Amino acid sequence: MTITRDTLHIVDHPLVQHKLTLMRTKTASTNSFRRLLNEVSTLMAYEVTRDMPVHMVEIETPMETMQAPMIDGKKLVLVSILRAGGGILDGVLNVVPGARVGHIGLYRDPATLQAVEYYFKMPSEVAERDVIMVDPMLATGNSIVAAVNRIKALGPRSIKFMCLLAAPEGVKLLQKEHPDVHIYTAAVDRQLDDQGYILPGLGDAGDRIFGTK
Ligand code: URA
Repeated sequence: MTITRDTLHIVDHPLVQHKLTLMRTKTASTNSFRRLLNEVSTLMAYEVTRDMPVHMVEIETPMETMQAPMIDGKKLVLVSILRAGGGILDGVLNVVPGARVGHIGLYRDPATLQAVEYYFKMPSEVAERDVIMVDPMLATGNSIVAAVNRIKALGPRSIKFMCLLAAPEGVKLLQKEHPDVHIYTAAVDRQLDDQGYILPGLGDAGDRIFGTK
């Protein structure tokens, strides 16, 4: 189940919403948080990949020959925004294990909240492929806008962005800068605080995945 507004898709499946609530709770352990993020990402991947084209192939079951659907074309490219994107990446790879994977390292300058790139490694074939970019938190939107600019320069066929939680400010910026990029999230929260954290949110996703602080 998904609520769609323009390019924004909110995956409101009860299992996704239930697991998100458990993740928001401040007492959730690192172990539970990581496991839940993996599960939610796998469930959300089902919606994000819903429009993948298929074609029919002939196969033989133990009983007879039949025409059966197979996913078309070139392999998907998943792009994980370091470091927290890894938590979603693993969940998506559970259902698309053959995807190619790229990484972009960005950190947020604490003074300006602007994205600064420190790492960029992509598979050789991004041109003409469908790309799904992943990062748990869409906060100011500065990082994902910068990351999409970099990926677009490689000529992909399409780009989707998948996160767990979004702030209205980030959705607005990404829709303004990249109106062709569809955004998939489990929820859109109230607002950002003055340090760029999502409220009510779930805190720092990277710290909660890796048990750092
Ligand atoms: N990144 C996070 O990890 N959490 C937020 O609330 C915002 C950005």
